[in-house]
Amino acid sequence: MDAIRIYGGKCLEGQTRIQGSKNASLPVLAATLLIKGTCEIENCPEISDVYHMLRLLESLGCKVVREGTLVRINTEQLSECDMPADSVGVMRSSIMLLGALLARLGGVKMEYPGGCVIGARPIDLHLRSLRNMGVRVEEREDGFSAYAGRLKGTRHRLPFISVGVTENLILAAVLAEGTTVIEPAAREPEIQTLCEFLVRAGAKIEGIGSGCLTIQGVDRLFPVRFGVPADRIAAGTYLAACMCAGGQVFLQGAPVSHMESVLLQARRMGAGLTLEENGILVTCRKKPAGCGQLVTGCYPAFPTDMQSLFMVAMAVSDQPGWIEERVFENRFRIVPELRKMGAEITVRENRAYICGRGGLHGAIVQAEELRGGAALVAAGLAAQGTSIVTNRHYIDRGYEDIVSSFRELGAEIEPA
Ligand code: EPZ
Repeated sequence: MDAIRIYGGKCLEGQTRIQGSKNASLPVLAATLLIKGTCEIENCPEISDVYHMLRLLESLGCKVVREGTLVRINTEQLSECDMPADSVGVMRSSIMLLGALLARLGGVKMEYPGGCVIGARPIDLHLRSLRNMGVRVEEREDGFSAYAGRLKGTRHRLPFISVGVTENLILAAVLAEGTTVIEPAAREPEIQTLCEFLVRAGAKIEGIGSGCLTIQGVDRLFPVRFGVPADRIAAGTYLAACMCAGGQVFLQGAPVSHMESVLLQARRMGAGLTLEENGILVTCRKKPAGCGQLVTGCYPAFPTDMQSLFMVAMAVSDQPGWIEERVFENRFRIVPELRKMGAEITVRENRAYICGRGGLHGAIVQAEELRGGAALVAAGLAAQGTSIVTNRHYIDRGYEDIVSSFRELGAEIEPA
């Protein structure tokens, strides 16, 4: 039952609630380690990456209570700093605990978090930047140990923009001695959410949302109750699925202000979008128009996490186009799978050239990572005939019950 069967060709109709943001929840959960006492995090999505993060926090001595999307975390008994390999290996986001554990306990021992098919995803810049804050890192074959007294604030001049490195340095800096400057800092909404959580807990952070963050270390942070915003990539996923399959869908709670580049691209491809107070009404009564070219980049550019979804929309259109992937070195993994469905796509270096042939047919295809897996589901919804998407567990890492959500929108879809 680790697959999804889709009888494609039906339009989507209805509304779907957009889940809390995976990529905002994970750093906020890691940040609770910096706070002695009990934090309450609302709107945490019920997905396997959050489950693994909560297991990691428990393995470190935290008391975790979960009631649906509300999570209570008490860190009074935080003791361990040796993270269990099975959870670290499963979830790359475990690297996010590095800065927080160093700030709170002064030490961490962990395996190298897994890379994945979209790229090697090294942590060299994480380790190099933390060394600049006084951290001693002893690297081993399969992992490393890191130790520090009180971390020392410093000016980081990063060689490139990294979401994870920005998050780790924020977590290391808020309790450090002195001032830390992070430049260029990633500007993703998830970074802004992390900063808002920490400021509410008593941190001193300036430049939130800009490419330069200045953090004045404080002695202590205080427990807070905090709500995670809706997931801009999940919202973009249902938007792209509607573009592929056609129909009219209301994305309830979609974070419009975080989706500018995606909405612009969707409009270019002919999607009718009505922006409302509490969400987005998406109307697609024709096949998507071509879009010519699409280039991914750091926020506010078009997000790499939406690239596979829009590749499917371009394959369903009947015009040519190309996509340039500028963030990860290997993020065209769904191309061979889309070819099985009749797509004509050629990859040269970091560009994929799509000859929209106006439609896809059903096939058995294999998900290899989270967003590519979701894109294959969208392709199955658009295709004529039956598709089976295997390795559903990759999709469940980032989406709350994708099968039920699409079934509620009228799709003929079931576990297989
Ligand atoms: C975060 O990954 C997201 N994950 C990714 O979402 C997202 O695609 C990515 O940011 C870019 O927006 C989470 O937030 C949990 P990076 P992250 O560091 O932090 C290289 C999803 O589907 N790099 O900004 O790992 C790296 O290899 C996931 O939800 C180094 O070389 O991304 C990549 O090429 C997928 N050395 C580039 O930087 C380092 O030490 C940008 O990666 C760190 C990164």
